[in-house]
Amino acid sequence: MRKVKIGIVGCGNISSIYFENLTTMFVNTEVFACSDLDKERAELAAEKYSIPHVFSTEELMACDEIEIVVNLTTPKGHFDICKQALLAGKHVYVEKPLSLSLENGKELVRLAKEKNLFLGGAPDTFLGAGLQTCRKLIEDGFIGEPVAATAFMVCHGHESWHPDPEFYYEAGGGPMFDMGPYYLTTLVSLLGAAKTVCGMTKKSFPQRTITSAKKFGKTIDVEVPTHVAGNIEFNNGTVATMITSFDIWSSTLPRIEIYGSLGTLIVPDPNGFGGPIMLRPAQSNEFMEIPLVHNYAENSRGVGVADMARCIETGDAPRANGELANHVLEIMHAFHTSSDTKRYVELTTSCEQPRPLALGLLKGYLN
Ligand SMILES: NC(=O)c1ccc[n+]([C@@H]2O[C@H](COP(=O)([O-])OP(=O)(O)OC[C@H]3O[C@@H](n4cnc5c(N)ncnc54)[C@H](O)[C@@H]3O)[C@@H](O)[C@H]2O)c1
Repeated sequence: MRKVKIGIVGCGNISSIYFENLTTMFVNTEVFACSDLDKERAELAAEKYSIPHVFSTEELMACDEIEIVVNLTTPKGHFDICKQALLAGKHVYVEKPLSLSLENGKELVRLAKEKNLFLGGAPDTFLGAGLQTCRKLIEDGFIGEPVAATAFMVCHGHESWHPDPEFYYEAGGGPMFDMGPYYLTTLVSLLGAAKTVCGMTKKSFPQRTITSAKKFGKTIDVEVPTHVAGNIEFNNGTVATMITSFDIWSSTLPRIEIYGSLGTLIVPDPNGFGGPIMLRPAQSNEFMEIPLVHNYAENSRGVGVADMARCIETGDAPRANGELANHVLEIMHAFHTSSDTKRYVELTTSCEQPRPLALGLLKGYLN
């Protein structure tokens, strides 16, 4: 099988798993070059993962052999690097969120369409065994018609472990833009597109103190809301209640649950690829664990990139695509806009429910 050549821009914290999986897990990808503003980081990654070229970002964009740019910069770099890649004639896949502003997200979707290039975005955890098995359970009628859902991501932020956590408290950060993509992409993948959002937001602590080793003791001014709560109405009528928060030390809330006319489904952590999945049919007295019936239960970050590489060959639309990432971006903004304006927000974007993966795929292959 032909291996599509990839250029990775941004060789920070999350890049390792992309380097590892795109060089070893998938049969149709290879990493041809990498770049970073901090050249030493790119050199270290190139040495560790045997990447043939370390380029400046400009050189990487100009390299004819590279077909997909994978943009793993921090959120404020997402739009510029994606736009540069599209203008250079490359397909582009970006870590979440797609962009800081909805206008920029829409511009990327438009530009990709105009140039006949693929735009894709993280997360791709919805292609993992856990969330694909949930999708199959819902489509096979195990909980009947979905009527409601809950999605909760609560913690006390990332300054205790991330070496450079400042971006989590700048525009494009905060719990909704950081973790919302996992939860919302999962809900859209399971339930389809959404139509209305209402939200309330809060910034409980104006400053944060870093306790991870490199910058221990440094304080960060918090620029964005760090507690975001609200409801989403989906086109299929499901009403989801969501909280994302960096203001909560501990809680017993579940991550995602889907409530159907015939039962309840406990969905696994959408920031992972595996299980467990628990199902309780209406007539049953207890939850039962459901075995995973799809592949990609281990950390398969990059599966969305491999799916895009597959689509370059087949002409299909990638599952983790720009319309999906942009719809999720609009929902995230809508929580904040609704809170600021004290009104419901009617969404202006939509997307197709991404096509499910087949059962019985061999590791490294996609259909
Ligand atoms: N760290 C995680 O666990 C994690 C998990 C999932 C997703 N993400 C997402 O991945 C992205 C990157 O996060 P991270 O934790 O790796 O951040 P990071 O700060 O560790 O790494 C980002 C890297 O990008 C480089 N960079 C920034 N702007 C650049 C530009 N214009 N050109 C070239 N290089 C540039 C930086 O020098 C840095 O090395 C973020 O969008 C984040 O939301 C992170």
